[in-house]
Amino acid sequence: MEVESLKQEENKTMMMMAQHDRNPNKKRRRKIICLVVISVILALALIFTILGLTVFKAKRPVITVNSAVLSDLHFSFDMARLRVFLNVTVDTSVAVKNPNRVGFEYINSTALLKYRGDVVGEVPVPAGKIGARDSKIMNVTLTLMLDRVLSNSNLYSDIMSGTLPLQTYARIAGKVRMLFNIHVVSYFSCDLEVSISSRNITKLQCHYKTKL
Ligand SMILES: *[C@@H]1O[C@H](CO)[C@@H](O)[C@H](O)[C@H]1NC(C)=O
Ligand SMILES: *[C@@H]1O[C@H](CO)[C@@H](O)[C@H](O)[C@H]1NC(C)=O
Ligand SMILES: *[C@@H]1O[C@H](CO)[C@@H](O)[C@H](O)[C@H]1NC(C)=O
Ligand SMILES: *[C@@H]1O[C@H](CO)[C@@H](O)[C@H](O)[C@H]1NC(C)=O
Repeated sequence: MEVESLKQEENKTMMMMAQHDRNPNKKRRRKIICLVVISVILALALIFTILGLTVFKAKRPVITVNSAVLSDLHFSFDMARLRVFLNVTVDTSVAVKNPNRVGFEYINSTALLKYRGDVVGEVPVPAGKIGARDSKIMNVTLTLMLDRVLSNSNLYSDIMSGTLPLQTYARIAGKVRMLFNIHVVSYFSCDLEVSISSRNITKLQCHYKTKL
């Protein structure tokens, strides 16, 4: 009995579905809804693409080195032990500008002090945030580590000449929150000449590199 009534129910439903499918109005309505949904999706995709390429285009942070000064320079030569003592500390003021309409978050990095290609000093640049179209001044204090310099065979001739060629370098990398996170990175490196006799920096030349 129950099986039979179930079968009847099934037949009824199948008949209803057949009628439903044969109804040309409903079929057309479904087609229209389908087309509208597709059009809306395409239009949204187009709008997002245009916004992504214009208003929300991620720009790299703009780095400017404002100044580099010697906050410490001590040099002495121990005749008896034929040893050099050299203290050099370079304070660099770096402005990082975020040209985007949204915030820029950068990750931890390390600023480097180099002498003729060797890393002779380093300092961490802690992670941070720069607001939309805002700038941040970073004070980067790099101290030369004597033991790393002493191994360089050029040191004695450079000291004799009175000028120490140094290089500072840092990389600022992070993300800009657009529709999705976009990674951007900027670098700077400065060539500087330290005059040992006049205890100042006689040449400062900075280069900026960007890469998306
Ligand atoms: C280098 O600096 C340290 C700490 O400021 C000091 O103890 C040391 O005597 C300095 N060395 C020279 C050669 O000036
Ligand atoms: C960044 O450095 C700070 C300390 O300077 C540390 O606490 C933090 O975990 C670091 N973050 C990452 C993502 O490495
Ligand atoms: C950087 O140094 C300058 C002067 O030396 C100081 O006025 C400024 O507050 C420092 N900025 C930071 C972020 O430490
Ligand atoms: C460095 O110091 C010397 C003498 O103290 C001075 O004549 C010279 O102008 C200074 N150079 C710079 C770039 O400050």
